[in-house]
Amino acid sequence: MSMYDLIMKKKHGLALNQAEIEEMIQDYTAGTIPDYQMSAMMMAICFQGMTKEETKDLTLAMAHSGEILDLSGISGIKVDKHSTGGVGDKTSLVLGPMAASLGVSVAKMSGRGLGHTGGTIDKLESFDGFTTSLTTRQFIDNVNRIHIAIAGQTSDLAPADKKLYALRDVTGTVDQMSLIASSIMSKKIASGADAIVLDVKTGDGAFMKTFEDSRSLASEMVSIGKLAGKDMTAVISDMDQPLGYAIGNALEVKEAIRTLQGEGPADLTELVLTLGSYMAVKAKKAESLTDARSRLSDNLHNGRAFEVFRQFITAQGGDVRQADHPELLPSASLTEDVVVSEGGYVQKILTEEVGRISLLLGGGRITKDSPVDLSVGIVLHKKKGDFIKPGEVLATIHANDSGKLALAKEKLLQAYRIVPEPTATEPIIRENLE
Ligand code: URA
Repeated sequence: MSMYDLIMKKKHGLALNQAEIEEMIQDYTAGTIPDYQMSAMMMAICFQGMTKEETKDLTLAMAHSGEILDLSGISGIKVDKHSTGGVGDKTSLVLGPMAASLGVSVAKMSGRGLGHTGGTIDKLESFDGFTTSLTTRQFIDNVNRIHIAIAGQTSDLAPADKKLYALRDVTGTVDQMSLIASSIMSKKIASGADAIVLDVKTGDGAFMKTFEDSRSLASEMVSIGKLAGKDMTAVISDMDQPLGYAIGNALEVKEAIRTLQGEGPADLTELVLTLGSYMAVKAKKAESLTDARSRLSDNLHNGRAFEVFRQFITAQGGDVRQADHPELLPSASLTEDVVVSEGGYVQKILTEEVGRISLLLGGGRITKDSPVDLSVGIVLHKKKGDFIKPGEVLATIHANDSGKLALAKEKLLQAYRIVPEPTATEPIIRENLE
């Protein structure tokens, strides 16, 4: 069937069969299907959805669109982690080195920003010289030597996802369950780890806004992973407000460094300890989740997790002086506080909007090739449930353009709902699925 016919088939709500999906993915990877036709297909999928069978076929076709990494050169059980994407989500920057500090072999494949959410690679590029373009040999050697390597997606690894990821980012086709599941799981299957811990976000700042959708996404990814022989766990975590206080690449790196030094925000610390405990148990580096948590927490406070972070930055070409002196990381030329005129309790934060404000400041991509300004972003001073007095600072905007700064201030004030009475807030960990 031609691509035109496949688009029509999906547009009319019919399921594509395995051969059709495989051919479409092969041809798109080879460049014989143009982006405009694939964009139409992605949009049709957004409106019509995919069956579980189609999602599995799409995942496997994407995983096999390039090479499957052979990590047998790494000793021990290799563990990978992936988040479905959130605002202020600097989890991997803390979790990877922290888990590695217990001897877990963290062989992680990361992505760039997507839609209103940030990406680990963009954040790490805040360090001068840092690269995630590692050869397979370097990747394996680094994990064997310091227990951690974070690589970007090479053009050999799930290349279909690499192309689709960039296309979906700018065509409004990210927030669809089957597309997210296949994007994440194809990379994870192709990148060769034995065990995978998924951080599935739920809430306004996530791609899945409702708890039910997040749970379906988690369970779909867990079943696909198990089918591919992986040891799987998914944690559903709250994304109804930004994680931690910092949003924006270098600002998030600074918050991650404080967390690796035991001085991080409570929600981020709790999330990394939960995910890290699963990673340590799967890697057989801890006897139980309780044992893992207490040793991981020790390593956040005794300097070991931060020391692994330093080694990791150095091993991937980054300037480690910027880890020791975070004030050397990129910083914006303009900073301005957002002040409230009326006080009360923070009831709601429009989290996707906060992510979009960071994009507007230049912190993410508007088109496939737009550059990212690593220095800009937002530092929140108040989160859900907090009390704020009239005249107090709600957030600080970091910008390099006064027009964008003014617009960001206005939008940020509108992103907060402040009410006279306190309301209950959700815990950061909502549910675990194995
Ligand atoms: N992360 C991914 O790798 N892909 C998605 O589609 C969403 C989050």
